[in-house]
Amino acid sequence: MASYSEETVAVPVGTTLDRFIKRRQQASPAATGELSQLLRDIALAAKIVQREVSRAGLLAITGGFGTENQHGEAQQKLDMIAHVRFLRALRNGGEVAAIVSEEEDSIVHTGNQQGKYVVAIDPLDGSSNIDVNVSIGTIFSIYRRQSPIGGPVVESDFLQGGHQQVAAGYVLYGTSTMLVYTTGQGVNGFTYDGSLGEFFLSHANLTTPVDGRIYSCNEGNLADFPTGIQHYISQCRENRFTARYIGALIADVHRNLLKGGVYLYPATRQAPNGKLRLLYECFPMAFLVEQAGGSATDGRQRLLDIPIEKLHQRSPLIIGSTSLVNAVSQLY
Ligand code: AHG
Ligand code: MN
Ligand code: MN
Repeated sequence: MASYSEETVAVPVGTTLDRFIKRRQQASPAATGELSQLLRDIALAAKIVQREVSRAGLLAITGGFGTENQHGEAQQKLDMIAHVRFLRALRNGGEVAAIVSEEEDSIVHTGNQQGKYVVAIDPLDGSSNIDVNVSIGTIFSIYRRQSPIGGPVVESDFLQGGHQQVAAGYVLYGTSTMLVYTTGQGVNGFTYDGSLGEFFLSHANLTTPVDGRIYSCNEGNLADFPTGIQHYISQCRENRFTARYIGALIADVHRNLLKGGVYLYPATRQAPNGKLRLLYECFPMAFLVEQAGGSATDGRQRLLDIPIEKLHQRSPLIIGSTSLVNAVSQLY
């Protein structure tokens, strides 16, 4: 038989998330495989949620759930579905002892008291986009618990501070579904191939541009922003920057991560501490964006330095390309 090259006969499908996680684990001799299993559980829940999101209009799962979360926001059916999907995957996986979710007031114990990890999660980010078929996502943040293994998880396990995150990431249910995460050694992005039911490495060692020309904020609130932010927005307009705001933190940050830009959710008159939540929105996104070479601040200090006292604490967030974030901080 004539010689042939494998690649011309069949193009390789690429590196699956599973294989990537396994290789990373093998490269770190101290790893026990528990974090790897946890990341796989997150990917499994992400696949299930993506299946539901992709058929939302057909499954009668759009619209309100009829309840409010502790922030007084109406819970959507998909908020609760995503919450249950992730909770179940993490409980059945066995590595996670407890979770904190945007959709529950207090800590949810999984029953796995032997679990070494706790997870904070925004199961569905960008709720207002659900019913109109616009991008939404999931944000997750993983800590190694400090309380003794075998006993109950306590609140301080979740209040260790942003620097103590072991891993963080997001799933974007957009024109394609992506899982992007960091374990503190850079950022990698995976795109879901529904025909194979697998995430494949598509954005290896993702880094964000230092500079950019996109600004993303809810400009309808401009009059209520701090004056420093108002000045910054005026500069953006004078410099003919591009305004882009999807209304889902993940989608806005993801776009800016790839293209260069800044996302701002500052304090407003109505929300003096900002709107976004430190534990499951700001900390994980700040960790990930910093790992990609970007920056995050609340306007006054590095976001990861903010002391956290309450599970559902809010914070202003300015995040994205380092030179733009610095420019905002200087005007603050
Ligand atoms: P969630 O859907 O998890 O409550 O988060 C929505 C957040 C964030 O994703 C988005 O950027 C922001 O709220 C939008 O708020 P405004 O509608 O006030 O612009
Ligand atoms: Mn959110
Ligand atoms: Mn949410």
